[in-house]
Amino acid sequence: MYNLVSCEQYTRERLEKLYELTDQIAANPAAYADKLKGKIIATLFFEPSTRTRFSFESAALRLGAGVISTENGNAGSSTAKGETLEDTIRVVMGYCDAIIIRHSEDDSSERAAAVSSVPIINAGAGSGEHPTQALLDLYTIRAKRGSLDGLKVAVMGDLRHGRTIHSLLKLLSLYDGLTVYGLSRELFQLTPKYVKFLKDKGIKYIVCKDFSDIPKDVDVLYHTRTQAERFDKSFSERVWDAVHGAPQSSEQFVVNKKILSKFSEQTMLLHPLPRNEEIDTNVDNDPRALFFEQAHNGIPVRMAVLLTAIS
Ligand code: CP
Repeated sequence: MYNLVSCEQYTRERLEKLYELTDQIAANPAAYADKLKGKIIATLFFEPSTRTRFSFESAALRLGAGVISTENGNAGSSTAKGETLEDTIRVVMGYCDAIIIRHSEDDSSERAAAVSSVPIINAGAGSGEHPTQALLDLYTIRAKRGSLDGLKVAVMGDLRHGRTIHSLLKLLSLYDGLTVYGLSRELFQLTPKYVKFLKDKGIKYIVCKDFSDIPKDVDVLYHTRTQAERFDKSFSERVWDAVHGAPQSSEQFVVNKKILSKFSEQTMLLHPLPRNEEIDTNVDNDPRALFFEQAHNGIPVRMAVLLTAIS
């Protein structure tokens, strides 16, 4: 059975097969309108979402499937009455053909997959992973650049808690000649687990202190917001202390027109969204600012994921 829990499940061949299907869907969506007719997708979201839930539900509807959903599972499902995640999955799996889950616990998708008789798709798990976001991120890069070998990618913002970054690094590691630049404030740097992952894969990882440490011809600037919802009490105190009484955010690295002008005309500016202050709206009309196109690529990519999982 197909579960999508982590990007570590992908091989280069498997990923390319998914992207070939995505290309076919994007080129002729009408041909896929009935592919999941009679199937039911459940979206179980225990954390807020705009892009992931709506695009998954839109993808399911565009494939002819029905959708059942809880958008606020902590309050709107029997989780509020103390039901465990495992029991919720054991029940909901009887009502649907696949479960798409977003949850605050890093291991939530693994736990769900361990008890489920229908495919589980991770739609964001704590500070762990967000595989389908990374799938659409890389699809966006591939659509613009063609080849994914030899990429220079700068990941920026909250590298510590950013689940989209963690998944993206895992997918990028499937390609050759990758160099990764990490630009963040000290407390928000990539954790040793991910630094070791890159090292073990033979990927060059360069810690940056400023935009000037990133080469002008970098292929991708991938920014992220501060994931304040992930701070526990002790981390919040460290953040506070680090800046002498003023809350530290990772958002001192704001990409605006002036910063973007320092990079190549081919550099892609991506962001999983939602953004806060880390990308100034004055770059939105720059052809390098691809974040809304990126979000819309969620439809064909998630249609391909659903088709792969269910058919
Ligand atoms: N990128 C992303 O996961 O956005 P949402 O939280 O709105 O789903």
